[in-house]
Amino acid sequence: MKPITWIPLALLACLPALISASTPEQQPLLTNNLFESFVPSRIVAVGDFHGDFRNTVRVLNMAGIVDKTGELWIAEPGTFLVQTGDVVDRGPDTIALYAMMRNLTVQAEIAGGRVVRVLGNHEVMNMAADWRYVTKEDIASFGTAEKRRAEFGPEGLIGSDLRDLDIVTVVNGSVFVHGGVHPTWAEKGIDAINREARSAMAADNWRSNVFGGDGVLWYRGYAQDPEKQVCKLLRKALKSLGARRMVMGHTPQLDGHILSRCKGKAIVIDVGISSYYGGNCAALEIKDDVARALYCDGTRKLLS
Ligand SMILES: *[C@@H]1O[C@H](CO)[C@@H](O)[C@H](O)[C@H]1NC(C)=O
Ligand SMILES: *[C@@H]1O[C@H](CO)[C@@H](O)[C@H](O)[C@H]1NC(C)=O
Repeated sequence: MKPITWIPLALLACLPALISASTPEQQPLLTNNLFESFVPSRIVAVGDFHGDFRNTVRVLNMAGIVDKTGELWIAEPGTFLVQTGDVVDRGPDTIALYAMMRNLTVQAEIAGGRVVRVLGNHEVMNMAADWRYVTKEDIASFGTAEKRRAEFGPEGLIGSDLRDLDIVTVVNGSVFVHGGVHPTWAEKGIDAINREARSAMAADNWRSNVFGGDGVLWYRGYAQDPEKQVCKLLRKALKSLGARRMVMGHTPQLDGHILSRCKGKAIVIDVGISSYYGGNCAALEIKDDVARALYCDGTRKLLS
């Protein structure tokens, strides 16, 4: 009997060491299938960080995800943190923000939670070496422009991590995407969209339609067009995707409020967290399938 009990115990004992020793890039991909078998008890979703570490930590701490330093995951088991892209550009804290997200991904899994990230158009721009929104301070933080380019390349710590991300995902019936999924994309299905993005990234094909102006990274219709027009489109897209709501970043809400449209079926969570956009502080919480906006002044607002 003894060996049978002792061997598994020994294995269990070294499991935490094995997990923390593996770098984030080696973590297995979290597929939609995995999410289906792991139902979250609470989802917190945050929009564009745009290079501002201090204000990002403030939001994540307010929502009960990290401690005040941003170093430690403090959320309850079963918590999913979803980030909808545009961590980079407009501010200088690229290195610290991506390091935090990679680190939290590891910590969350050990703590029985998950970090789910999708790409934004600014992640793609940086991989494509389009630096229109990169600040001087940001480049300096990498040492040289050449070093920054290498970091975002397929061999770089940041670049290899980003090339492992999806551009659209579904967690417990909510679609999370940077811009928005128009019905013409929704018809193809989540997996096909992500496959197209991955093969474009692998081929260094940044002009692919999947990254284009009508693609899911840039589309602003659900955030901006008249509801009379877009709620019908949204319903169609959600039906194709088998989801109940769509949560998006990308279109900054300069008043700092999370925007709910189409009776809560479209939620825009880019509240301008970065000081570039005013340093606003809000996160989306979904619990018992009810969506609420959480604010740093303590306000909580039901979204419907
Ligand atoms: C994450 O950050 C914590 C706190 O700074 C540190 O102890 C830990 O080693 C880091 N983990 C990884 C995987 O980088
Ligand atoms: C996940 O969805 C189910 C319904 O399918 C719901 O009962 C549950 O409360 C949802 N979880 C969260 C965190 O909202």
